[in-house]
Order: sequence, then C-alpha cells, then structure tokens
Amino acid sequence: MRIIGINQEKCIKCEQCVNECRHHMFFKEDESIKFEDPDDTCIKCGHCLAVCPTDAVIAEDAEVFEFEEARDPSQIIEYEYLMRFIRGRRSIRQFKDKEIPKEQIEKILEAMRYAPSGSNKQSWNYVVITDPEKIKFFSDQTMKLLYLLKKALKLKFILRFFVFGGARKLLLDPKNAMRLERVIADYEAGKDVIFFEAPCVIVLHAPSYGSVAGWDAGIALTHGMFAAQALGIGTCNMGFAQEAARRNKKLKKWLGIPKGRKVQAVLALGYPSVQFHRAPPRNELRVKYM
Ligand SMILES: Cc1cc2nc3c(=O)[nH]c(=O)nc-3n(C[C@H](O)[C@H](O)[C@H](O)COP(=O)(O)O)c2cc1C
Ligand code: SF4
Ligand code: SF4
Repeated sequence: MRIIGINQEKCIKCEQCVNECRHHMFFKEDESIKFEDPDDTCIKCGHCLAVCPTDAVIAEDAEVFEFEEARDPSQIIEYEYLMRFIRGRRSIRQFKDKEIPKEQIEKILEAMRYAPSGSNKQSWNYVVITDPEKIKFFSDQTMKLLYLLKKALKLKFILRFFVFGGARKLLLDPKNAMRLERVIADYEAGKDVIFFEAPCVIVLHAPSYGSVAGWDAGIALTHGMFAAQALGIGTCNMGFAQEAARRNKKLKKWLGIPKGRKVQAVLALGYPSVQFHRAPPRNELRVKYM
C-alpha cells in the first residue's frame, strides 16, 4: 500500500487527514490540502484513507474495508456481550479428532492480520502445521526441552549460584519440579502433552530484535484466539513449544524460520471436546491510579 495524493475534486478541505496523520504528510497550502512524503517516512497505517469523509485520499494497492459501523465501532458489540465473549474463552486441551477446514484457518489468520502493531510494522509471519506426523515431530522436539529442564532441576543446588531473577525462582520452586514430573510421566504414557492432539498448530515468527515484535505477535495471537472462538474452534497458547522453537536450532530450521527472526508465539487449535459451564475466577485487579 502506498499513499500517492489527494483527489482535489473530491476533497472538501475538512483537514481531517492533516489532524490525523501524526507524521505530517498532509498540510494546507494556498487554500488546498496537499500530500507530500519526500523521505518515504509514511508508516502505511492507512488512517488518512480511513478518516477522509469523501474518500479523496488516493492510494496504490490499498485494500479498504467499507462498513457502516466503522464510523462508530461502539455500535458493533455491547460491552456486556464482549465481556461474556472474553470470559467465555478458555485454553482448550481436549480436542475432537476433526480437521479444521482450510477456509476456517484462513478466517483466523485474517483476524490476526488486523491486529495493531508498533509503527504498523505487521512483521509477523505464520507457519501453519496440519500434518499430524509433523505436529508429533514438533511435540517430540519440544519434549527434549522438558527433559533438559528436568536435568537442570536435579542440579538446582549447584545451578542456583549461576542463575538469577525469575529463572532462579523457577529453578528453586519445588512445585515446578513436581509439575514437570507429571507432564513427563503423561508423555511417557503416550500422551501428547505439548499440543494435546490438536489438528492444527500456528507458529508466529517476527524479527528477533526489540520487544515490540513480540508484543505485536502476542496481540495478533489474541486476535486469532477470539476469531477461532467465534468459529467454534478452541485454542491454547503453547509456551513450551515457543521456547523449544527458539532454543532448538534443528526445530527452528525445520520450521523454516529465517535468520534474524524468532518464534514469538505458538497456538494449538482444534474443535473442543470439552464444555465449560462457567468462567473460572481471576486475580483481583491490582491497580495504582495516579
Ligand atoms: C506494541 C505496540 C506499540 C505501539 N506504540 C505506539 C506508540 O508509541 N505511539 C503511537 O502513536 N502508536 C503506537 N502504536 C499504534 C500503532 O502505530 C498502530 O497499531 C498501527 O499504526 C496500526 O494502526 P491501527 O491500530 O489503527 O490499526 C503501537 C502499537 C503496538 C501494538
Ligand atoms: S498512511 Fe498513515 S502515516 Fe501514511 S500518510 Fe496516511 S496517515 Fe500518514
Ligand atoms: S480528509 Fe479528505 S476531504 Fe478532508 S481535507 Fe483530507 S483529503 Fe480533503
């Protein structure tokens, strides 16, 4: 997408574009509104296209989505309904043995595509895995990380002198060792403790540098979770698999993650074979108002 100018015949000189573009590409000159981007610093956020009441902003390769409620999105869904939808989301770990049709996966990716991102970079890419053999391979490779963690926990009285902060806390908490033992025992009993037999796994990768790419991917993932829920598809964010895909070079290569990028999120998807009857509790809000 590239903004190239203004259709002066359509322009009513309302200056909405001037006020909205925080990179000052639009300005008033000789009683008309002009657009200039000599240094190519437009972030392609499309806000000028979206804000112009007469559709006078001209762009190349711009896919604009017209819908009445764009003018007042508060009309789309009432807060109470949105909260039910949010509270109704659960991490699903019991899936039906049923494939997700490709069109449904594409609908979920489309929702992720509309996520906000720092400087509108939209820098996340996807790897979609639906082959059960490949999901099993990913799961087995992830288990290697868990076995490594088990070894580390055995050496915790030595390692604690070399590990600090959150990692040290994790290492010394005996409950973590017990939880890990349980997961490994289930794996050794033949269960898929990583993806829970999900028929689809989506991996998001983005640039390795900075923290914003990771937040962006996390937001995109959340969009995907809610889109999936609206389609009757359950999801679970997979932290172990994400960590494994970052650390295990073989896995990273197998996934085809290019140099300079890292796995920022892994999502398991499938039709739930479990029904929940109420939303579980959450911690009370901890807020400091200033
Ligand atoms: C992690 C993150 C950081 C952001 N930081 C800023 C910021 O510092 N200043 C700002 O004006 N917008 C910021 N944004 C908003 C983005 O510029 C915006 O999401 C993007 O241009 C797309 O526009 P949209 O959200 O209207 O779709 C941020 C968005 C994200 C997700
Ligand atoms: S796309 Fe965004 S940054 Fe570019 S000219 Fe329009 S409002 Fe400004
Ligand atoms: S928002 Fe559209 S109509 Fe208004 S000044 Fe800008 S180009 Fe002209």
